[in-house]
Amino acid sequence: MFIYFKLASMSEENINVKEILDFYILSGVEETCGDIAFSCVKKDVLPKADRKIHSHLAFDTKEALESAYDLCDRVSSIDELKTLVENFEGCSLKTTALSTVMGDGNPNAKLMFIGEAPGADEDRIGRAFVGRSGQLLDKMLASIGLNRENCYICNILPWRPPGNRAPADAEIAVCLPFLKKQIEIVQPDIIFALGAVAVNTLLDNTDTISKLRGKWMEYKTENGKIVDVMAGYHPAYLLRTPAQKAKAWSDFLRLKKKMEQTTC
Ligand code: URA
Repeated sequence: MFIYFKLASMSEENINVKEILDFYILSGVEETCGDIAFSCVKKDVLPKADRKIHSHLAFDTKEALESAYDLCDRVSSIDELKTLVENFEGCSLKTTALSTVMGDGNPNAKLMFIGEAPGADEDRIGRAFVGRSGQLLDKMLASIGLNRENCYICNILPWRPPGNRAPADAEIAVCLPFLKKQIEIVQPDIIFALGAVAVNTLLDNTDTISKLRGKWMEYKTENGKIVDVMAGYHPAYLLRTPAQKAKAWSDFLRLKKKMEQTTC
C-alpha cells in the first residue's frame, strides 16, 4: 500500500503528524517509500506546490545523471565501479538501502543477465539474486548447463527500492550510466533481460514483456558493439505465475542454442 502525504501542508492545517504516523504504523505500514511523489501521480492533477517538487526533481536528476556519466568515465574495472557507486550521492534510494548491490558472477563471461533491483534478501546480504527469485534463476541456469561462473548477473538499480516498490523513472535514469558501464567493462556477446523493467530500460522501449519475450533483439553499446538481446519473464513473476514456466523454458532453450552458435 502506498500512501503519499505532505508533512508541510499537514502542519499548516494543524494536523497532528505523530498521530497520523501512529495510525499508519497500527494499520501495518512498515516502510517509507521515498521523499518524492510517484511518477504514477498525473502531473496535471497535482496541487501547485507538488508540481514545483516535480520540476526540482527534473533538475536534480539531470545533474545527478551528468555526474554519474562523468564518474563512470574515470573507471575501467567492476571493482572500481563498485567503489564509485558506493560513494555516489545522486540517488536517494541509497539512503534507505542497507547495501549497494553490484553484479554477481563472472565479469569475464560472455553472457549477462540483467534484473530489476535488489530485493530484501539481496539488500541484507549485499549480493544480487540470492533470495527466492535468485534461487529459481540458479535452477533455470542449471537447466541449460550454466552457473554463476559462466555469466554475469546484475540489476538496473544497485539499491533496493523501499518496500520493493516499482522503481521511479528518475531513479532508473540516474542509475543507467552504471549499467552501461558494466556492459562496457564485461563486453558480453549476449544479454538476457529478466522482466519488463530490464528490457524496457536497456532497449528504451515500452512494449510489454509478453510481447518482447523470446525474440532476439539487438543492443548497441557505447563503443558500437552489437549485442544479441533476449528478454524473458522475471523469476519473481514465474514464482507468482508458475503456469508461465513453460514459456520461460522455451526462452532458455533458445538462449542455449544461441550460446552454442556464438561459442560463449
Ligand atoms: N530481483 C531482481 O530483479 N534482482 C535481484 O537481485 C533480486 C530480485
